[in-house]
Amino acid sequence: MKTAIYPGSFDPVHNGHLDVIARASKLWDRVIVAVALNHEKEGFFTMEERVDLIEKASCHLEGVQVTAFEGLLVDYVKEVEANAVLRGLRAVSDFEYEFQMALMNRSLDETLETVFLMPSQESIYLSSRIVKEVAAFGGDIDRFVPLVVKQAMAQKLKR
Ligand code: PNS
Repeated sequence: MKTAIYPGSFDPVHNGHLDVIARASKLWDRVIVAVALNHEKEGFFTMEERVDLIEKASCHLEGVQVTAFEGLLVDYVKEVEANAVLRGLRAVSDFEYEFQMALMNRSLDETLETVFLMPSQESIYLSSRIVKEVAAFGGDIDRFVPLVVKQAMAQKLKR
């Protein structure tokens, strides 16, 4: 069984992430969306909330599992016996960061391959940071995130 891990912060998951997950679910038997735990960075959503939102937004896709992980990605990849790390690549600006991560991961584990998928054109400019900013200033985020995320963000921003 071929497994890909799609790691990230997903704070929150947006339509660009979901587009990548949908593409990956057609290519791999199992796609593990792995939310990275980062003690240094306080998120908008908690880890549990992020996992829950991704689960709800991707429940129609076959072979997709959602988990949280802590520590090095290469260790988690081994633990779940994945064959590839999956990342979305939106623009040239992403390249340097992604290149650095992919090569660092490879130097930590020579057998690890990173695969990049391009999201759809409609979601190519999306980022969690920008979605949060638009929502915080009362902008309409309907086209950028699934309904469950929109509702959860509205709830948080009310508090
Ligand atoms: O969505 P992001 O914030 O760009 O995702 C970055 C992420 C979580 C994939 C990356 O920070 C990561 O893999 N963190 C786990 C710790 C680790 O293995 N770091 C070394 C890899 S460069």
